[in-house]
Amino acid sequence: MDGTSAKVVLFIGASFSFFLITHAQQQATRCRPQERDALLSFKQGITNDSVGLLSSWRRGHGDCCSWAGITCSSKTGHVVKLDVNSFLTDDSPMVGQISPSLLSLNYLQYLDLSSNLLAGPNGSVPEFLGSMNSLIHLDLSYIPFSGTLPPLLSNLTNLEYLDLSFTSFSGTLPPQLGNLSNLRYLDVSEMQNAVYSTDLSWLSRLHLLEYIDMSNTTLSKITNLPAVLNKIPTLKHVLLLNCSIPSANQSITHLNLTQLEELDLSLNYFGHPISSCWFWKVTSIKSLRLDETYLHGPFPDELGEMVSLQHLDFCFNGNAATMTVDLNNLCDLESIYLDKSLSSGNITDLMDKLQCSSKLYSLSSISNNMIGMLPSSIEHFTSLNHIDLTNNSVSGVMPRGFQNMANLEYLHLSSNRLSGQMPLLPTSLKILHAQMNFLSGHLPLEFRAPNLENLIISSNYITGQVPGSICESENMKHLDLSNNLFEGEVPHCRRMRNLRFLLLSNNSFSGKFPQWIQSFSSLVFLDLSWNMFYGSLPRWIGDLVTLRILHLGHNMFNGDIPVNITHLTQLQYLNLADNNISGLIPLSLSHFNEMTLKAVGDSISTLAFDESFDTFSLGMKHQILKYGSHGVVDMVGIDLSLNRITGGIPEEITSLDRLSNLNLSWNRLSGKIPENIGSMKSIESLDLSRNYLCGEVPSSLTDLTYLSYLDLSYNNLTGKVPSGRQLDTLYLENPSMYNGNIGLCGPPLQRNCSSNGYAQGHGDHKGQEKDSNSMFFYYGLASGFVVGYWVVFCALLFYKSWRVTYFCLVDKVYDKLYVYVVITWTRWMNTTN
Ligand SMILES: *[C@@H]1O[C@H](CO)[C@@H](O)[C@H](O)[C@H]1NC(C)=O
Ligand SMILES: *[C@@H]1O[C@H](CO)[C@@H](O)[C@H](O)[C@H]1NC(C)=O
Ligand SMILES: *[C@@H]1O[C@H](CO)[C@@H](O)[C@H](O)[C@H]1NC(C)=O
Ligand SMILES: *[C@@H]1O[C@H](CO)[C@@H](O)[C@H](O)[C@H]1NC(C)=O
Ligand SMILES: *[C@@H]1O[C@H](CO)[C@@H](O)[C@H](O)[C@H]1NC(C)=O
Ligand SMILES: *[C@@H]1O[C@H](CO)[C@@H](O)[C@H](O)[C@H]1NC(C)=O
Ligand SMILES: *[C@@H]1O[C@H](CO)[C@@H](O)[C@H](O)[C@H]1NC(C)=O
Ligand SMILES: *[C@@H]1O[C@H](CO)[C@@H](O)[C@H](O)[C@H]1NC(C)=O
Ligand SMILES: *[C@@H]1O[C@H](CO)[C@@H](O)[C@H](O)[C@H]1NC(C)=O
Ligand SMILES: *[C@@H]1O[C@H](CO)[C@@H](O)[C@H](O)[C@H]1NC(C)=O
Ligand SMILES: *[C@@H]1O[C@H](CO)[C@@H](O)[C@H](O)[C@H]1NC(C)=O
Ligand SMILES: *[C@@H]1O[C@H](CO)[C@@H](O)[C@H](O)[C@H]1NC(C)=O
Repeated sequence: MDGTSAKVVLFIGASFSFFLITHAQQQATRCRPQERDALLSFKQGITNDSVGLLSSWRRGHGDCCSWAGITCSSKTGHVVKLDVNSFLTDDSPMVGQISPSLLSLNYLQYLDLSSNLLAGPNGSVPEFLGSMNSLIHLDLSYIPFSGTLPPLLSNLTNLEYLDLSFTSFSGTLPPQLGNLSNLRYLDVSEMQNAVYSTDLSWLSRLHLLEYIDMSNTTLSKITNLPAVLNKIPTLKHVLLLNCSIPSANQSITHLNLTQLEELDLSLNYFGHPISSCWFWKVTSIKSLRLDETYLHGPFPDELGEMVSLQHLDFCFNGNAATMTVDLNNLCDLESIYLDKSLSSGNITDLMDKLQCSSKLYSLSSISNNMIGMLPSSIEHFTSLNHIDLTNNSVSGVMPRGFQNMANLEYLHLSSNRLSGQMPLLPTSLKILHAQMNFLSGHLPLEFRAPNLENLIISSNYITGQVPGSICESENMKHLDLSNNLFEGEVPHCRRMRNLRFLLLSNNSFSGKFPQWIQSFSSLVFLDLSWNMFYGSLPRWIGDLVTLRILHLGHNMFNGDIPVNITHLTQLQYLNLADNNISGLIPLSLSHFNEMTLKAVGDSISTLAFDESFDTFSLGMKHQILKYGSHGVVDMVGIDLSLNRITGGIPEEITSLDRLSNLNLSWNRLSGKIPENIGSMKSIESLDLSRNYLCGEVPSSLTDLTYLSYLDLSYNNLTGKVPSGRQLDTLYLENPSMYNGNIGLCGPPLQRNCSSNGYAQGHGDHKGQEKDSNSMFFYYGLASGFVVGYWVVFCALLFYKSWRVTYFCLVDKVYDKLYVYVVITWTRWMNTTN
């Protein structure tokens, strides 16, 4: 059980025993008038209660013991519990301040005001709280109290439960907390204002303490932490994430901590050998978390004796550890995460050592230089739900036994050396990432994986036709078959209605534009490039309004560009290059809203790949490599090059001021370059070469300050070449950019303007725009794609919300029970180039 769930359970347990006391014999009780008045004045301190938490609190509205959040003692009728926390209604907490009238509730034992904005105008904790001596349970978490932590709470000696997490206190943890000798639960974590402590000796006076969370409190001066903890034999849960604890290499002579179940020291940069840590002898530990501690060297043999261990997290420790311990006594192990921490390893060996762990649910060893083969005995791990061996050197075939693993849902094997044919998959499988291996042969004909949501097997050597049975995966969201040796037609998977990503590029697929995707209302990414698709582009393409990326380049499509393509208002990358497209560029280019700067802001963030959090890993990174290397927002483009497009370049194209790439080269475009081209402010690469463009080069070109590539060669341009600093630089880098335009003159060209026939303005300003239609293209990808999850910090909604925490992996089941993942922050990785 991990921290969150433990916390919840403990919390529920505490509440439960409380209820046993207060609800012994539930009887109609009458509320005391002075207590009712006290509650009503408390309500007066609330200035905004938009969800109406206190709406039942009204004089004459029943007995105050029946008001929401109030519990009275059945014996005496006194109010004993006031619970108006609003963590379930987080977006509209109560606002106001805590009224001193609460002091009249002399028998109040339980006070929970958490997640409300009750810090009042000056933000300090009301002093009267320190006099509420009957309190047993006090929860002030997520109330933005500020100032120094109040020693005044130290008078509340009956307290068993104190939660001050996610407040905004600052300064040192007051040693007076040590006076709360009945405390069982203490959470002073994640105060947002640099809370610290230089002496924790007071802690050992809390001799009943079971749960302590001090995460994000600076403890850099504390060198005797194990000794302090060891004086509290009752401790079960110790969470000290991100505390700047200098070291864990102390030794304990007599071990008192025999009940410790959970120890989380993640994000403390110890940097010493793993084996010298103090906790290896604590065999009661069920959950041990050491992410980002930079411990190194071999795991000690004591690990093999930690027979209670259920969860081991050891991620992001810098690839300097090794794991050769015999783990065959760890029969309760449920999850083991070792990502980016080992210098080497052998997966055959590791699985061998885990044989006793029949409850193993999650195994993750990303980027660990693992060798060896996946043993066929893997099928005996029937509980395994999640395997992640991304980016290792695992070789051999994918074992047939996978098919029998009835609980396997997530299988990440990308970037390894797997070879041979893909086996039948277990019916439970949801995610298969096996891209960048050496898989070959055909896909199994009976490709039955009804639950599959992601099938990413790009960059292998898989041959033959895609079996029609793949269409039975009706929940498919992400299908990536690119960079293989597939041929024939793609099966018509009409029922894959949730498809968001369809990537088939760089195979030998043939057939017409896939008609079966016609009414797919979630498709955001369609890449058919580098195949042998033919025929015309369907008129209904404009119905795929969620499309962001449309890459049809390097096929044999013909006909014109459907005018309705401009209905794709979310499109940010359009590539039709190297086909046989003819006709005009459609007008109404300005409908490509996502290619304009006014779209930035709202839509960039809406390209959050919510459910794809664990969907996109190296696979996406691979796509990024392919799609270019630009930063997050500016990969926006149009590429229509190498076609037979005629007419002019529509003036409207110049409204696409977020476009960073425009390539119209090798077409039959005529007319002039739009005068206003300088307003396409984001253009980095502009290629209009090999067309029949005439007239002058617009001087507004010099306004394109991001321009780093320009090619106007082989047109019929005339007049003086505009000059300006970056245009001159571009010319130095690419002196052929004006070639093949016999009418161009002036520096930096050799030809002198006065000496040729094409001096200035040629006069044929009309005529061309009329027949020009528009359309355009390019590429790019922006924003918001989720990347390899080991780099993603995400906001997790805990039993309390908005707890920002760092996670080793997303698919920890136990977390999923309580955690609601919200991706607030996603971005492309800045790889490549
Ligand atoms: C009360 O809070 C709600 C939600 O937080 C907010 O929409 C509303 O404007 C607030 N009302 C007042 C009077 O401040
Ligand atoms: C904050 O306000 C409370 C009353 O609401 C008062 O007792 C206290 O002195 C004030 N503190 C400061 C620092 O102004
Ligand atoms: C705390 O307790 C002491 C001694 O019992 C008392 O003198 C003091 O007034 C109390 N402080 C508060 C803030 O109630
Ligand atoms: C509270 O703790 C301090 C030392 O931390 C001590 O001096 C004081 O007497 C204690 N107060 C009570 C009421 O126990
Ligand atoms: C952790 O503490 C730092 C200051 O030490 C603060 O800036 C940050 O917001 C805190 N993090 C959380 C999640 O409270
Ligand atoms: C073990 O715990 C007891 C009770 O808290 C304490 O008196 C003793 O000093 C502890 N032993 C060590 C070695 O810390
Ligand atoms: C860790 O603490 C530092 C300050 O002590 C803070 O800046 C940082 O945001 C914290 N990191 C996490 C992941 O909470
Ligand atoms: C613990 O490590 C620190 C440096 O990280 C070192 O100075 C100290 O001597 C070590 N102590 C023990 C007991 O190994
Ligand atoms: C793959 O793993 C190696 C170490 O095994 C690491 O150096 C490399 O950065 C990883 N690659 C990616 C893309 O994470
Ligand atoms: C991995 O371990 C297995 C079992 O110990 C062994 O047979 C195999 O040779 C190892 N693989 C490599 C590549 O060393
Ligand atoms: C093209 O768009 C127009 C509306 O602008 C619509 O009436 C027409 O049905 C669309 N054509 C197709 C084939 O979707
Ligand atoms: C180039 O432009 C000149 C003047 O407008 C015209 O006479 C000539 O035919 C054009 N050449 C081509 C190849 O379009």
